[in-house]
Amino acid sequence: MNHHTPVLLKESVVNLITNKSGLYFEGTIGFGGHSELILSHLDDKAKFIGTDKDSNAYLHCKNKFKNDDRVRLYNTSFTNISNISKIEFIEKYDGIFVDLGVSSFQLDDKDSGFTFREDVQLDLRMDKSKGEPASFYLNKLAEKELTEIFFKYGEERNSKKIANMICDYRINNKIKTTGQLKGIIEGITPEKYLTKALSRIFQALRIYVNNELEELEEFLNKAVSLLNKNGRLVVITFHSLEDRIVKDFLKEKTKDCICPPEYPVCVCNTKPELKIITRKPIVTSAEEIKNNKRARSAKLRVAEKI
Ligand SMILES: C[S@@+](CC[C@H](N)C(=O)[O-])C[C@H]1O[C@@H](n2cnc3c(N)ncnc32)[C@H](O)[C@@H]1O
Repeated sequence: MNHHTPVLLKESVVNLITNKSGLYFEGTIGFGGHSELILSHLDDKAKFIGTDKDSNAYLHCKNKFKNDDRVRLYNTSFTNISNISKIEFIEKYDGIFVDLGVSSFQLDDKDSGFTFREDVQLDLRMDKSKGEPASFYLNKLAEKELTEIFFKYGEERNSKKIANMICDYRINNKIKTTGQLKGIIEGITPEKYLTKALSRIFQALRIYVNNELEELEEFLNKAVSLLNKNGRLVVITFHSLEDRIVKDFLKEKTKDCICPPEYPVCVCNTKPELKIITRKPIVTSAEEIKNNKRARSAKLRVAEKI
């Protein structure tokens, strides 16, 4: 079974590796597509630390790389990069990589509760041992909060109407499944916009239950402080909210002054920490999109520690 087709595979690995005997961190090992190619470019002295929140992905990679002594894997969030590095006695990395979002396996697997193509428990958590499933929040949050989530994380124009319908529905029913949520959205969305609306609402809930944008910001800050001089930070994003965070973060870290513009002289002593390698993000080729539709929104950004 093909669990996941890695996106922008060669482009990310070529940009990540600057020292074949170096130390590397991959925050989103998934089903090990990128990890495998990274490892094939490294020699015996190298070390590779990987994390994934999802236990299926972690167990898959644990087995896949069981005979490779260079590999150490953790079933946890990539925001734990600092603690893990301490455990591994690693001070700095030569390359840090994340391929954000979810794998095809998570999207398609009934038990993962991500898909709106089947009627399954509405969960959407990558780590099912922490927090509450999406259905919990749909039954609990106020209409205003649901509207905000759908608008902020899904950029859905009908957020208010959908939130209102959910609140009406739950007066007499408890929302438990993807089919129930799909039914509510179907009731107020014209057929031709339905798939887009479903994708946006499911994306919004997924970002919310997994705390994805906050975790990304926390991770980026930690990652920069853990890079060696000339070490590379390589990030693949899949939607505009993530990409904006990465783009703005990288830009901020290239600045040599953050004083308010009205200050006549610089007093902040800021030193740029990063040099941007990809002025414009690398995107997927028509050929890659033809073979893997899910690659179409991917953007790859690369920066180097100064
Ligand atoms: C697009 S897939 C990665 C696929 C992988 N590069 C491959 O080639 O198989 C994203 C993975 O990141 C994981 N993930 C997302 N956010 C995470 C986080 N904050 N910490 C750890 N893993 C995360 C998901 O569980 C998923 O397995």
